[in-house]
Amino acid sequence: MAQEETKITVKHTAAEEFVVALLEAAGVSQKNAKIVAQGLVQADLRGVESHGINRIPSYLARIRNGVLDPKAEPALTQVTPVVAQVDGNNGFGFPAAHLAMDTAITMAQTFGIGMVSVKHSNHFGMSAWIVRQAADAGMMSLVFTNSSPALPVWGGKSQLMGVSPIACGAPGGETSLPFILDMAPSVAARGKIYKALRRGEKIPQDWALDEDGKPTDDPAKALKGVMLPMGGPKGSALAIMMDVFSGVLSGSAFAGGVTGPYDMSKPGDVGHFIVAIKPDLFVSLDEFRQRMDTLYQRVTGSDKMEGVDRIYFPGEIEQLTERNRLEEGIPFVQAEIDALNTEAEKLCVPKLQ
Ligand SMILES: NC(=O)c1ccc[n+]([C@@H]2O[C@H](COP(=O)([O-])OP(=O)(O)OC[C@H]3O[C@@H](n4cnc5c(N)ncnc54)[C@H](O)[C@@H]3O)[C@@H](O)[C@H]2O)c1
Repeated sequence: MAQEETKITVKHTAAEEFVVALLEAAGVSQKNAKIVAQGLVQADLRGVESHGINRIPSYLARIRNGVLDPKAEPALTQVTPVVAQVDGNNGFGFPAAHLAMDTAITMAQTFGIGMVSVKHSNHFGMSAWIVRQAADAGMMSLVFTNSSPALPVWGGKSQLMGVSPIACGAPGGETSLPFILDMAPSVAARGKIYKALRRGEKIPQDWALDEDGKPTDDPAKALKGVMLPMGGPKGSALAIMMDVFSGVLSGSAFAGGVTGPYDMSKPGDVGHFIVAIKPDLFVSLDEFRQRMDTLYQRVTGSDKMEGVDRIYFPGEIEQLTERNRLEEGIPFVQAEIDALNTEAEKLCVPKLQ
């Protein structure tokens, strides 16, 4: 890894205001700009910097290249009492996914479950912010998306499936944190390679292969090659699962047809699959919460293997990072601040300090 570079810390409120100002200047409504900004800043707060506000320059480039419509509003169609569809209309993926989860939660409050398919959307960043939206409303959730080709299927050598994250969650109990699983089906998310490239860092040898099919620690070479699926055929199958539920089912692009956020040639046509489930369908809410407490205690209190100081619940490390960064600010390297301020100059918006 490269030497530790000095970090500049930015308060989450300042980061959010900056992103809202940039997006509004680019033609996005204030309501949608806030949803995008909150999703990105939540990623930075949780330590998922690969999907934080550093994504803004590429998103703005998509608007400038006419492949993402900043003024688009997601449109909702009710299909059955528990099923709806959102057409993202080629706007930001964040408001489309937000509307989808909001609708799923409302349906689940009445009928126990709500399922929303999203088509013609774009990248929605870190899936965990949508899982959180459900957990904050007291709901369990599934949040799936497909994404642009990055991963060979098991046995293949060319990019075909996306590094599409599988995410789900459940509210916690009295003494436990919510369960938040949000994981890419690759050894590492591709955003982590972009982050290493931005920061001039090397990557572990087992994340990706270069163009010649050889392991590499160079992020630039890795981005020209392929990401490696986690667990071999199992990671490959999970990536295909994300495409079945998000792409095939929705009517959006699938089977290698999604356009990535860094490809300025055409709209993303991303699909998402979003489900909210009421946690007290089979046991009372009190019992559910007690059972989550028991699970949390048993998991985190499990016997530790040698060299392990603490066992974490899925999502816990990110929640601890968030708690810390809400107090101390979000660390960025100067090159990241400079890239964001170049966008501020272009759009005549006050710079991020
Ligand atoms: N929108 C997209 O197209 C897209 C594509 C790829 C990735 N992503 C995002 O990239 C992010 C990073 O994905 P990732 O797979 O690299 O995540 P990761 O490997 O950092 O974490 C995966 C999961 O494992 C849990 N975890 C990690 N370390 C743990 C530990 N020591 N103990 C217990 N649990 C632990 C985390 O809480 C998380 O739920 C995700 O937020 C994902 O949504 C988005």
